[in-house]
Amino acid sequence: MYTIIRKDRIAGDVYSMTIEAPHVTTNAKAGQFVIIIVDESGERIPLTIANAEQESGELTLIFQAIGYSTKKLAALEAGDKLFAVLGPLGEAAPIEGFRKVLMIGGGVGIAPLYPQIKALYQAGAEVHAILGGRSAELVILRDECTQYTHELEVVTDDGSLGTKGLVTDALEAHLKSGEDFDLVVAIGPLRMMQAVVGVTKRYDVKTNVSLNPIMIDGTGMCGGCRVHVGGKMKFACVDGPDFDGHLVDFEELISRQGMYRTEEAHTCRLLEVKP
Ligand SMILES: Cc1cc2nc3c(=O)[nH]c(=O)nc-3n(C[C@H](O)[C@H](O)[C@H](O)COP(=O)(O)OP(=O)(O)OC[C@H]3O[C@@H](n4cnc5c(N)ncnc54)[C@H](O)[C@@H]3O)c2cc1C
Ligand code: FES
Repeated sequence: MYTIIRKDRIAGDVYSMTIEAPHVTTNAKAGQFVIIIVDESGERIPLTIANAEQESGELTLIFQAIGYSTKKLAALEAGDKLFAVLGPLGEAAPIEGFRKVLMIGGGVGIAPLYPQIKALYQAGAEVHAILGGRSAELVILRDECTQYTHELEVVTDDGSLGTKGLVTDALEAHLKSGEDFDLVVAIGPLRMMQAVVGVTKRYDVKTNVSLNPIMIDGTGMCGGCRVHVGGKMKFACVDGPDFDGHLVDFEELISRQGMYRTEEAHTCRLLEVKP
């Protein structure tokens, strides 16, 4: 059993939870994830490692309470215990050897982007970031990201913070002005990552995306998380979750993501909540 040390609501239905999990923090690297099981009969919930403190063994996760299992997780408080915290899982994101990078996060995707921002900055890269959300409240971790970036821009759909518009507008402005990035990293909704890739393809800038297909075991055994990358089948849990965005088959991924919508709506009704 793993003790919850802190839990805070950081925006809307987005929560930060810190857990005592030294077995994870000892080896955790930016880009990796864990699988959480809330109780003995619980589902497996994959969540990206937002922060891992090696000395104290404190693992922080940031998640959106979107359905049955994440709402159950959000209902827990400091002092409560989790049945299982499995990890670190997946491949670490590439961090070394970059000169100038542009990091793009959308909504709760800023949570998995943050550890990569921090690691790239600490590895000596010049780090620029564009954070986007529907409104000001949903642009999470602004202070944390500011600490590890040379330049940070905020865009919101409704103009309530930063520039009104989409992350792709800000991206296009950078690339049009001739700025030379050797890597763009985009993490957010699938349609956002697909749109970012559409822009960077035109300017021929290498772009990594972090994929979150339905995962079950998280260890490469069940095939649930399969995605096509460059025409080859990959398992996001062991070959990713980060991939070359120019090669990802986004349409396949988007259609697979909605596969269990009926079942998800049913389990949500068990909690008497709207899906
Ligand atoms: C590698 C990885 C890292 C992730 N990191 C984060 C994170 O840091 N923060 C965060 O808020 N979310 C993250 N997610 C998504 C998170 O796992 C899902 O939101 C969660 O599993 C939803 O479960 P639910 O029962 O609450 O909702 P459900 O009602 O079951 O599902 C809601 C939606 O969540 C997605 N989903 C459901 N089950 C899974 C599953 N087993 N694997 C992947 N997606 C699922 C589907 O798109 C579904 O439509 C990550 C997913 C993956 C694969
Ligand atoms: S989650 Fe089962 S193979 Fe990846």
